[in-house]
Amino acid sequence: MKRTEIARILAQPNLNEVVTVMGWVRAFRSNRFIALNDGTGMKDLQIVVDFEKFPEALLAKVKYHACLKVTGLLVESQGAGQTVELTAQEIEILGENNPDEYPLQPKRQTMEFLRENAHFRMRTNTFSAVFRIRHAIAYAVHKYFNDNGYYYMHTPIITGSDAEGAGEMFRVSTLDPEHPPRTEDGSIDWKQDFFGKATNLTVSGQLQAEIAALALGKVYTFGPTFRAENSNTSRHLAEFWMIEPEVAFNDIFDNMNLAEDFVKYLINYILANLPDDLEFLDKRIQEEEKNLPADKRRPMGLIQMLRFVVDNDFARITYSEAIDLLRNSKDFKKGRFQFEPVWGGDLQAEHERYLVEKEFQKPVIVRNYPKDIKAFYMRMNDDEKTVAAMDVLFPYIGEVIGGSQREERHERLLSRIREMNIHESELSWYLDLRKFGGAPHAGFGLGFERMVLFITGMGNIRDVIPFPRTPGNAEF
Ligand code: 4AD
Ligand code: MG
Repeated sequence: MKRTEIARILAQPNLNEVVTVMGWVRAFRSNRFIALNDGTGMKDLQIVVDFEKFPEALLAKVKYHACLKVTGLLVESQGAGQTVELTAQEIEILGENNPDEYPLQPKRQTMEFLRENAHFRMRTNTFSAVFRIRHAIAYAVHKYFNDNGYYYMHTPIITGSDAEGAGEMFRVSTLDPEHPPRTEDGSIDWKQDFFGKATNLTVSGQLQAEIAALALGKVYTFGPTFRAENSNTSRHLAEFWMIEPEVAFNDIFDNMNLAEDFVKYLINYILANLPDDLEFLDKRIQEEEKNLPADKRRPMGLIQMLRFVVDNDFARITYSEAIDLLRNSKDFKKGRFQFEPVWGGDLQAEHERYLVEKEFQKPVIVRNYPKDIKAFYMRMNDDEKTVAAMDVLFPYIGEVIGGSQREERHERLLSRIREMNIHESELSWYLDLRKFGGAPHAGFGLGFERMVLFITGMGNIRDVIPFPRTPGNAEF
């Protein structure tokens, strides 16, 4: 169907031209002004209706989120708020809407309610902005790596190995769950399963990306990953997307530099290319926080925060320094932490947020974590106690990136694998990479939704992925 996209009209209006637009009604005021949106941008096209020229029965169907085709004359706008408007000559209802039964209403509705109506929520200003930004970040990811000489590598979604060794995997199987074949000792005989072995959905493409990096030099993956961790938080999904660059000849410092440059590029890209969507979301947060006490409000507006992150160097500290800072903090001394920061323990979300939001007030990269709290593949440091791991921590979000320099020394890797009781046989190919022409290398994983969360300023990760998968929820 021939139509002109609203974003094009608003960007380069040809006054006195007759155009046809199609889209959804965002508002219909005074039986005269229709705000029409076709998804091409944040801004609606104002359509002016002379109600005497149209049958009442037709105008009665111009309802919130009904779908219309309108042909009209593009003229300079008389009103404030827009430069051009369309004087309607023909109106056709493409899709009627019955507001009495339609779940969405033209007023502020809770995020929970909109989540339950995920098949309609993209029609709201907030969600259309979020998903336009999500798209643009994904595009910027590919652009960044392509422009810097990286190859996009598709790593498998079904795997036989647990890359993170955390055992939080979804089984993939075609065996009859009621009557699985058994071995002599009574356990399930996975040899008879589809792949002739036990398989799972991947938690990370890293191990296969390493194969590629040790041939093509600089590669990245960008795919879905799956974790069956029972974390019902605003930062966790069971199905999320991860971006994993892997680079031969990079050490942990090169890795940190890449991570910082990369995330700053993504933020800059959105600041430069989607200002309307960002401004809308910025105002939305201010509106939402208006009634909160000052200490519950964000210290900066959304756009201000994004600029602040790209304009400042990230803080860089070791894990040991982080523990010292935490233990010496007022928050710890006054008993404000739920968990005590102790050397050897995980940094809890509250600790990460303290470092980022109070101690440094900017993103922080923590490196050299104790070996016992990190994955088997991370490179042992000379102190034999810590590994060359790094986490990038962001305001409000906490960890957005986890990465490391990889253990490239065959003997060291093998002894770590044995120490951690990991099935050596499943990783023979991974060990081979160290035996035959291995190289120092490093990489990291950026949680895509955590990045989208930060850039859009949304409060819950379920609102930045179109169809969230979380414990107890796989609707749509
Ligand atoms: O820190 P993680 O577990 O690192 C890895 O998987 C490495 N193999 C990456 C690598 O070195 N190539 O996960 C990486 C990032 C986290 O920093 C976080 O942003 C995100 O993935 N992430 C999640 N995002 C949403 N929901 C979850 N359940 C997530 N778990 C991790
Ligand atoms: Mg991590």
